[in-house]
Amino acid sequence: MIKFDNVRYNHPDGTNALDNISLDIPEESITAIVGNNGAGKTTLVKHINGLLKPSTGTVSIKNEDTRNSSVAELSRNVGMVFQNANHQLFADTVKNEILFGLNNFGFNEEFIRERYEFVIELFKLRKYEDISPLKLSGGEKKRVCLASVLAWNPEILILDEPTVGQDELQKTVLLKFINQLHSNKKTVIVISHDIEFLWRLQPNIVTMSDGKIIEIGNSESIFKNQELMEQVGIIPPQIIKIFEGLKIKDEIPLSFEESCKVIKNLRN
Ligand SMILES: Nc1ncnc2c1ncn2[C@@H]1O[C@H](COP(=O)(O)OP(=O)(O)OP(=O)(O)O)[C@@H](O)[C@H]1O
Ligand SMILES: [Mg+2]
Repeated sequence: MIKFDNVRYNHPDGTNALDNISLDIPEESITAIVGNNGAGKTTLVKHINGLLKPSTGTVSIKNEDTRNSSVAELSRNVGMVFQNANHQLFADTVKNEILFGLNNFGFNEEFIRERYEFVIELFKLRKYEDISPLKLSGGEKKRVCLASVLAWNPEILILDEPTVGQDELQKTVLLKFINQLHSNKKTVIVISHDIEFLWRLQPNIVTMSDGKIIEIGNSESIFKNQELMEQVGIIPPQIIKIFEGLKIKDEIPLSFEESCKVIKNLRN
């Protein structure tokens, strides 16, 4: 559905940020992109909504070359929540921030009302409706960004570091919501350094370093590959380290409770 074909991207100052990227992201999948700072993750996803166009190679969405569409056209189907909330927020109130996309894409009034109510409740933003989003805390700003993009229900959703500054409760809301989007046949792409969050999400993982894709695989195979983890500058989830430290060969359960049971059984 999303296809990168031999993509290179050089920033205007000549920095090479993507080096011969070929990647297929299937429809209705959850994909995480991980890698060290400066690996090229944000640069990569900016190609999906057309904010950046490849220097060489092609990026296509549903077989349509992004060079042939404007960012406005692509945004209807590709919603992106930016890494830095301050780069996204611009309206005078939280309400207008959320309504902007909805009004801009020309949805009917009933749909706009329904979606507005849905996201304002989901992200617990009711009491901030009439105040400037710039006055909110970092975590709250991020929630407004999430709400304003999720409001128009795009088919592809890109979340760049969505858990930064979020407390545990909000992370759980986000996790449930991503899973819900997945069941509703959306394609979700998450960039994250939050490995514990990714372990709970169990996405397909694309690892990047120095503008290149290093390896692609499921969460367990990627996180168990120590050499790869070092190469891309991440630490595996705690539970993998515990199972390895205790030399437990069993499959690692996803829930903390189930993992405890495995460890307890071993002691008995
Ligand atoms: N506007 C720009 N002009 C020049 N170079 C840039 C620009 N934006 C990013 N870069 C460079 O491109 C490379 C990739 O940056 P990118 O933001 O994609 O990394 P990232 O993997 O998202 O990192 P992080 O984990 O820190 O968010 C880095 O070397 C960065 O310094
Ligand atoms: Mg980034």
